[in-house]
Amino acid sequence: MKRYQRGQIKIAIGTLICICVANCSPPEDPIQCTGLVKNSDCTITNSYGAFPDRSVCRVAKAVYPTTEAEIISAVANATMTNTKIKVGTRYSHSIPKLVCPDGQDGVVISTKYLNRTLKIDVSAMTMTVESGVTLRQVIEEAAKAKMALPYGPYWWGVTVGGMLSTGAHGSTLWGLGSQVHDYVIQLRIVSSAGADEGYARLRTLEIGNPDLDAAKVSLGVLGVITQVTLKLQPLFKRSVTYITKDDSHIGDEAVSFGRMHEFADFMWYPSQQRVVYRIDDRVSTNASGNGLNDFPGFRSTPSPVLSTLRTSEETQESLGDVDGKCINGKLTASTLRTMAYGLTNDGILFTGYPVIGYQNRIQASGTCLDSPKDARITACSWDSRVKGLFFHQTTFSIALSKVKNFIEDVQKLVALEPKAMCGLDLYNGILMRYVTASSAYLGKQEDALDFDITYYRSKDPQTPRLFQDILEEIEQIAVFKYNALPHWGKNRNVAFLGAINKYKNAGEFLKVKAMYDPLGLFSSKWTDQILGLEDGLSTENEGCALEGFLPLLTYVLFFLFSLQLIYREVILLSIPGSHIDQYTELPTSKEYSRINWIFCSRLLCFVKSSFPIYIYIYI
Ligand SMILES: *[C@@H]1O[C@H](CO)[C@@H](O)[C@H](O)[C@H]1NC(C)=O
Ligand SMILES: *[C@@H]1O[C@H](CO)[C@@H](O)[C@H](O)[C@H]1NC(C)=O
Ligand SMILES: *[C@@H]1O[C@H](CO)[C@@H](O)[C@H](O)[C@H]1NC(C)=O
Repeated sequence: MKRYQRGQIKIAIGTLICICVANCSPPEDPIQCTGLVKNSDCTITNSYGAFPDRSVCRVAKAVYPTTEAEIISAVANATMTNTKIKVGTRYSHSIPKLVCPDGQDGVVISTKYLNRTLKIDVSAMTMTVESGVTLRQVIEEAAKAKMALPYGPYWWGVTVGGMLSTGAHGSTLWGLGSQVHDYVIQLRIVSSAGADEGYARLRTLEIGNPDLDAAKVSLGVLGVITQVTLKLQPLFKRSVTYITKDDSHIGDEAVSFGRMHEFADFMWYPSQQRVVYRIDDRVSTNASGNGLNDFPGFRSTPSPVLSTLRTSEETQESLGDVDGKCINGKLTASTLRTMAYGLTNDGILFTGYPVIGYQNRIQASGTCLDSPKDARITACSWDSRVKGLFFHQTTFSIALSKVKNFIEDVQKLVALEPKAMCGLDLYNGILMRYVTASSAYLGKQEDALDFDITYYRSKDPQTPRLFQDILEEIEQIAVFKYNALPHWGKNRNVAFLGAINKYKNAGEFLKVKAMYDPLGLFSSKWTDQILGLEDGLSTENEGCALEGFLPLLTYVLFFLFSLQLIYREVILLSIPGSHIDQYTELPTSKEYSRINWIFCSRLLCFVKSSFPIYIYIYI
């Protein structure tokens, strides 16, 4: 096995794809405390080491409860002193600042040690776990009892509490849908309470209780989820085949494909005009095969390889080497295809499709979480302790009824700038997965296709990525023209603008929030903003923060380049619905001017950052 894997490394250099050769450094705790008193004076970040605004969150104290009683005590202590509370997880995968309490005096309650499986009921097909249990543990424990969670995220390093709070999902239009929270039948949650109740209250919410629809997807603002009972299914096998086609029919097939195959999804490479269709169905457990999924992007990677990849991407970005990115993108995509996206027929070798295997071996992966420390010779590719990949993710879902039009709009942009989306290919293209309408108040409102777009992020917040305008265009078209719903655990602020108005039961959610956490201890300014309770989501230099301009040396060249950008903006304006002509539909003039500000800010940024250019040129 090792020899086979080492053989592949040569192919992998220069691409995203890397193989674990030895032991790997597990990710570090996102909570780091430096105070003299144990677990005091802490910083908290996410697994990528950077929030969208690149700020560092501080809390006065971190608490690591090991039992539900300790959680109750921690919540009570914080409530008594009117201290802000947030829940943190072992790896902290949410991109936005869901884990940050306001100010620096808050407390973060980590679920790191709440990682036990409490009960497995084979006859009822249920499993009760503590909220810090990872998806990987759920999958493994369930499989031991011959059961399976039918759908879930593909990366198994997320926790049950985190998956629920952010609405994490897999891909299906079948059954109860792909969101993990739709398989919750009971949940226990600790919220703050008055002195008469001892400052904390534990509630057990069963299926049928409308509060469960609030608590299932809560962004963490209702309280601390302590235990969750999931409804499982008998363990089954599935049969996976990837086929690559050109993308001319993807608009038409985007809906029907999901009705035909239970676990269907797509990887779309718009600049290559190709789509990889995942034909993936349940098969009889009699079907032979012991396939395994070990997705290459989630394996441990030697840090010199990561550093090479990152340096090459940085160089291409700074030189504007679009063709270089396209070549690397194609190489990455074809390497992945050759490696069958990490699938093997028997756990060792890939010999051909279909790959048939048990659900627990196919549904998710993430081997870079494993393994003893090795001084960071290897790591997860996004580990911020090594020079590795640094990216951002824009993720939204578009109703099935509108998905074809959206895809066609993206294709129009590609026709205009054929190489604009090469950069996505380095991150495996646009992952498209099915999600379904949920009873959760902040869950999906209708059946939809979720688009997961991962792309380069500069270490310097003032430096734009190549074709940043096109990527933003796609984000804006999705959010404002097609009313896309954001993934709560990903995205930048723009995806959350006015988002709350897209949820018909948002009012119900806020009522439950007012009842569970009347003091707003579990809320922050940021969560209030995305829940529409406070203004200001778009005033913090939304456009400028990530859209400064290139360094001094390249000013003159860049000036010419900017002229071309303006030219392209003018062309983009002419695509119906792609630009500012949308915003007249927005409800209030205040809203209108706020949103306008974001787009105007792009222009402002340009003017502001061009100032030195003019001075430079004229002196
Ligand atoms: C809550 O406060 C009490 C009294 O100060 C302390 O003994 C207890 O350990 C605290 N609980 C937690 C979970 O921090
Ligand atoms: C729970 O987490 C702790 C700390 O990370 C770890 O030592 C322990 O092995 C985990 N328990 C299980 C059941 O995974
Ligand atoms: C598996 O094979 C056995 C014997 O051939 C057969 O009786 C059974 O119905 C099969 N099960 C399924 C689910 O097809």
